[in-house]
Amino acid sequence: MSIATPQSAQSLLSARSEAVVQATAGVVAEHAEQITARFYPRMFAEHPELLRVFNQGNQATGEQSRALAASVVAYAVQLIDPDAPSFAHVMRRIAHKHITLGIRPEQYTIVGHHLLAAVGEVLGDAVTPEIASAWDEVYWLFATQLIAEEARLYQQAGVDPARPLRPYRVVRRIDEAHDVVSFVLEPTDGGELPSIEPGQYVSVFVDLPDGVRQPRQYTVSSTALGTRLQITVSRVVGSDGAPDGQVSSFLLDHVAVGDVLELSAPAGDFVVQSSDAPLLLASAGAGITTVLPIVELIARTQPQRKVIVAHADRTAQDHALRDTVQYVGRQIDDFTTYAWYETVEPADEDSRQGYMDLSEVPLDDDVQVFTCGPLPFMRHVRSTLLDRGVPASRIRYEVFGPDLWDV
Ligand SMILES: Cc1cc2nc3c(=O)[nH]c(=O)nc-3n(C[C@H](O)[C@H](O)[C@H](O)COP(=O)(O)OP(=O)(O)OC[C@H]3O[C@@H](n4cnc5c(N)ncnc54)[C@H](O)[C@@H]3O)c2cc1C
Ligand code: HEM
Repeated sequence: MSIATPQSAQSLLSARSEAVVQATAGVVAEHAEQITARFYPRMFAEHPELLRVFNQGNQATGEQSRALAASVVAYAVQLIDPDAPSFAHVMRRIAHKHITLGIRPEQYTIVGHHLLAAVGEVLGDAVTPEIASAWDEVYWLFATQLIAEEARLYQQAGVDPARPLRPYRVVRRIDEAHDVVSFVLEPTDGGELPSIEPGQYVSVFVDLPDGVRQPRQYTVSSTALGTRLQITVSRVVGSDGAPDGQVSSFLLDHVAVGDVLELSAPAGDFVVQSSDAPLLLASAGAGITTVLPIVELIARTQPQRKVIVAHADRTAQDHALRDTVQYVGRQIDDFTTYAWYETVEPADEDSRQGYMDLSEVPLDDDVQVFTCGPLPFMRHVRSTLLDRGVPASRIRYEVFGPDLWDV
């Protein structure tokens, strides 16, 4: 892994800037969300073309603004504090996301310009030229590391960042559960599929009926298909007056067999390392899309490796891919599934009522955990497992949105 460790990054910041960042990190952190909330509107006003690359749902909820603020603060902290937690996973996650969106080095100048201008707008006269220069240095250290990692990932995936998308035809639509549909996709150019590690996602770009172009990420929910890949989309229903999800609704309501979707190359670091350690795959709702490809991988390559699948959903009717996961799991020697539903049908004697409770699931000492679902669900999973003595280093998670885990 080429990403710099905190120590090597620390030595990159000049001594002069280090002292300034030490002195001002607190005030920048305190205002970070205000700064990024100013940053996006000013950048989009000058570069409306970027509205087509940024997820407008995450803009409306403010989640992307919070994720950017948190990442810049965490980056600055690990530059000045050698005891700060490792930053490598944050850096990796951003770089993987960026390459599915075709982010290019020259765009860092635009982001840097508007981010530093937003710092000036929020903090006003407090930003002396010395302070501005120190934070400019922090920004460009961060940017340079991301640009380098993204160049490596583009090259590894054989992707030209100027043409990051490939057209795929929908060859099958499968109703998996209530408001959950799988789309089986084949490259229209007749070429081979890219290499896909189970657990990775693609960015899907769609042109919405109002003319707006938008990307969203979808996990490749099956990698068993050889010449085809599958994504499984769950409709996001708006609550408390918020609108329904734009892209999920569009895909479910308007995309049919024969239509063409534009996809990025697969990316993401939520992937299983080869080891013999038993696996616990703990998912909720749409998080099940990460479970099937991992179960397929183990069935194909390590059927002797123990796997426990634990899934939570509203009802059995909402539990997508359940039968497929069970079917593939039969090829694994030691394969157990558990399901928790908020409402369990009286005839269903196998499922448990209520939220997932892992406290009674038998676990081996060396279990490796992959969890995917809403943040409160994953926090609950993590705290139950930490209480049971599973080390944090053995718990991996995937967030289906900007990563606000540490925020
Ligand atoms: C790595 C990754 C993998 C993923 N894998 C999958 C997968 O396999 N399957 C899957 O189904 N999803 C997956 N997702 C989620 C997916 O990318 C989308 O986020 C999801 O489909 C919702 O997109 P949308 O366009 O339908 O919703 P959006 O239109 O983006 O809306 C998202 C939320 O914002 C709210 N919102 C929007 N506008 C406003 C407003 N003006 N005011 C208040 N609230 C607002 C909406 O109500 C909704 O709750 C994944 C995400 C990531 C990051
Ligand atoms: C040092 C500079 C940058 C930092 C620190 C940064 C940070 C981030 C972070 C933290 C995320 C969220 C990742 C996640 O958890 O999913 C993200 C996503 C994203 N970034 Fe960057 N980024 C930088 C530069 C850029 C540039 C130059 C562009 C191009 C214009 C860009 C475009 C995007 C887009 C489009 C997303 C996805 C947004 C979404 O899904 O809402 N970023 N970035």
